[in-house]
Amino acid sequence: MKVVSVINYKGGVGKTTVTWNIAGELAFRNYKVLAIDLDPQTNLTFSFIRPEDWQKSFADSKTIKQSFDALLSNDDFDVNNLIYTPNRVKVKLNGSGKLDIISSHLGLINVDLELATLLSGASLKQSKKNFIKVHRRLRDNIQDINNDDYDIILIDCPPNFNIVTKTAIVASDFVLVPTRPDFLSTLGIDYLIRNLSDLVRDYNDYAKEGDDHVEEINPATIGVVFNMIQERSGQPIQAQNTYIQQIRRQSGLYVFERYIKRNDTLFAGAPETGIPVVLNQQSSGTYKSVVNSLEDVVDEFIDQVGI
Ligand SMILES: Nc1ncnc2c1ncn2[C@@H]1O[C@H](COP(=O)(O)OP(=O)(O)OP(=O)(O)O)[C@@H](O)[C@H]1O
Ligand SMILES: [Mg+2]
Repeated sequence: MKVVSVINYKGGVGKTTVTWNIAGELAFRNYKVLAIDLDPQTNLTFSFIRPEDWQKSFADSKTIKQSFDALLSNDDFDVNNLIYTPNRVKVKLNGSGKLDIISSHLGLINVDLELATLLSGASLKQSKKNFIKVHRRLRDNIQDINNDDYDIILIDCPPNFNIVTKTAIVASDFVLVPTRPDFLSTLGIDYLIRNLSDLVRDYNDYAKEGDDHVEEINPATIGVVFNMIQERSGQPIQAQNTYIQQIRRQSGLYVFERYIKRNDTLFAGAPETGIPVVLNQQSSGTYKSVVNSLEDVVDEFIDQVGI
């Protein structure tokens, strides 16, 4: 079971869209997939579950917020109780693979502030212990999931680097960075990678220092995948290509050969249907070329992650 966080500070670059569609395509290819929504905006959640159903059956007892609440109140907790199989996708998959989700909650915004209060301790040693305990919360949760239940867990992160997001990094084998090909979207990638390595360094230092034999972490960056590409004559338009080439040259990261094309008509309404774009069958040429671009990205994703 491999764990991949989908992360970028920048809002609106396509983290949720990428998570949702990679999850759908992998399930279609017979993989067993769990998607975790860690963003209080709950966009991934509502791409699978109707808001009214979520309100009725999930809001109070079946979201990832429950895990952090239990940590804060020191209560027993089993993450397996949060897992749900969205029916619309299940029907669409028609027996292939498996696609389950753990939904999110708007209240996760406050959880970040509450977790921060847990970090302080009476001594430096106690503070470091608390740091480990809080940051490894999701990692501990995932270790409670049977290894054979899933081939891959995809975590959709919020556009920040707060504590909840850091729990995703600590839980991950890999990190995937979607971005848009424009100046502001590519600007923060260096900073993100620096913050990632600072977190890993601090976590591993504290893990070594404690007497609890906490295992060290080493999440690998899969690389950068470009989203919302507009093509002319089969190539990204010049204004976008500039930023793709710049990231290739300067970031030191792997940049996916393939990219996801832009198509406002297809992506805007898809979450309401509950079916990832990549699983929709439409016959138009435009649709096919967008789906092909998603499928190519998933080919590369599978190679990089080794599943
Ligand atoms: N390839 C695409 N073509 C057209 N629209 C897209 C594409 N990818 C994403 N979008 C749209 O762009 C918007 C932002 O995408 P998305 O929500 O996936 O980004 P995000 O990085 O998860 O945002 P946030 O930081 O708020 O979580 C959404 O309305 C989505 O439908
Ligand atoms: Mg999102």
